[in-house]
Amino acid sequence: MVITGNGAPPLPLPPAKRRSGGGGDGWDGRPDALRRLVRRVKPFEHAGALGLFVLTAALVFLVLLRLVHSDYYSLVRGGWRGAPGGRECDWFEGEWVWDERYPLYESASCPFLDEGFRCSENGRPDRMYTKWRWQPAGCDLPRFDSKKMLEKLRNKRLVFVGDSIGRNQWESLLCMLSMDISNKSSIYEVNGNPITKHMGFLVFKFRDYNCTVEYYRSPFLVPQGRAPAGVSKKVKTTLKLDTLDWTSNRWKGADVLIFNTGHWWNYEKTIRGGCYFQEGNQVKMKMSVNDAYQRSIQTLFRWIHKEVNRSKTQVIFRTYAPVHFRSGDWRTGGNCHLETLPDLAPQLPLKAWSHFLRPFRNASFENSIATEALELDLLNVTQMTARRKDGHLSVFYLGPKGPTPLHKQDCSHWCLPGVPDTWNELLYALFMRRESMRHQNVTVISNTRIKLS
Ligand SMILES: *[C@@H]1O[C@H](CO)[C@@H](O)[C@H](O)[C@H]1NC(C)=O
Ligand SMILES: *[C@@H]1O[C@H](CO)[C@@H](O)[C@H](O)[C@H]1NC(C)=O
Ligand SMILES: *[C@@H]1O[C@H](CO)[C@@H](O)[C@H](O)[C@H]1NC(C)=O
Ligand SMILES: *[C@@H]1O[C@H](CO)[C@@H](O)[C@H](O)[C@H]1NC(C)=O
Ligand SMILES: *[C@@H]1O[C@H](CO)[C@@H](O)[C@H](O)[C@H]1NC(C)=O
Ligand SMILES: *[C@@H]1O[C@H](CO)[C@@H](O)[C@H](O)[C@H]1NC(C)=O
Repeated sequence: MVITGNGAPPLPLPPAKRRSGGGGDGWDGRPDALRRLVRRVKPFEHAGALGLFVLTAALVFLVLLRLVHSDYYSLVRGGWRGAPGGRECDWFEGEWVWDERYPLYESASCPFLDEGFRCSENGRPDRMYTKWRWQPAGCDLPRFDSKKMLEKLRNKRLVFVGDSIGRNQWESLLCMLSMDISNKSSIYEVNGNPITKHMGFLVFKFRDYNCTVEYYRSPFLVPQGRAPAGVSKKVKTTLKLDTLDWTSNRWKGADVLIFNTGHWWNYEKTIRGGCYFQEGNQVKMKMSVNDAYQRSIQTLFRWIHKEVNRSKTQVIFRTYAPVHFRSGDWRTGGNCHLETLPDLAPQLPLKAWSHFLRPFRNASFENSIATEALELDLLNVTQMTARRKDGHLSVFYLGPKGPTPLHKQDCSHWCLPGVPDTWNELLYALFMRRESMRHQNVTVISNTRIKLS
């Protein structure tokens, strides 16, 4: 049972396992058997030539044992083979549990947050939405360690590309990575742009680690531009479904690339405003928004395959984060301001968003490039996030001007600290797993990783 302290809501929570020992996250654990063996070998040290030979042989044996065992141990203790019976653990299958140790940071002590995400500072009275931790059903997540992550990111670039929900997650990660750095001025935007800049891109550098954590705004991932000459007057702009965003040259060399899209793939944000879909020089007047979305994801897959050096770059796709408008949508007075608790039902129907997940669920790839598989880490947050109707900005996004009128709520973006912190704890798990695989040269295709072939 994970409820601790006062103020926990009276909810029936099923028991959840806690990490034993608290602090350690198991990534550099050393097998006990190894230590025992080292002790046992010692008496040979003074036994002459034969002893020396035996010692050398034993050391060689130990090195081999360590190589074999260390990845076994980090696999097991790192949490992706923690399930009983050696079954792989799905990090994305689990439940939200109350945990008094959360949140990981306070918005008031993080200078890298848009005013709009600072719910508590903007007057949101309840704090319960900051106290839920994600607990996978079959294992534990490694505990987020900002210093460890920064150390592994030394001289590297981590890049988010996507819509403003991706920005929401990027800002959360800036806060999480900076929480143990006392001199916040050692973290700065390389072009001197303020966090309030919402077009183009922002690049934050962690001076002491020479690493950058970047965000590129690209809500569709494919470029939106002027319509070609001679098409219907209805067409004001087009989305070029067979090309990736023009800024892709800036990201493709990154060490970690995290994509997201979805919130702009709807009628309102495309066709209604005269934005149609284009392939080659053809504007496809009849193409549905959903078909256009599916094609853009295929373009993304093709681009990753062709342009990204997979031995250098870890590519992650964060799946759609559900919205929670009740009695309407964002234009018609939909609301979420009365939600203070997650939905603790074990599974929510994903029907409303299944078209966003389809390209990942039924991953098929064109024959021409099927010879080589394309691997992609999936940050599969849709189902877990669907339960967090309590985590949105609702009316608390205007800053000191006070809450907005009830009919203008934001039930898409998330309060920080809050739900995107959990996505980043999962991102940390994916990142550390890849780092440990890189060093041990093992490939594990788990269910958080999809293989397109
Ligand atoms: C700093 O990191 C960049 C990559 O982001 C790298 O190209 C550069 O060589 C690094 N500088 C030093 C001094 O290591
Ligand atoms: C903090 O970092 C800034 C920017 O690099 C530097 O100018 C300042 O001297 C640092 N302050 C301390 C106390 O180290
Ligand atoms: C891909 O990245 C690896 C690791 O950084 C590097 O050794 C290799 O030269 C790169 N390959 C190409 C084609 O750039
Ligand atoms: C994503 O996770 C859900 C459980 O939360 C699972 O049902 C679904 O199959 C997963 N999707 C993929 C593509 O792995
Ligand atoms: C996957 O897609 C192919 C064709 O695109 C289809 O034939 C197959 O039935 C699909 N599989 C699933 C599990 O949806
Ligand atoms: C890693 O594994 C691959 C294939 O299994 C092999 O070709 C490569 O030489 C290995 N690299 C190292 C450094 O052991």
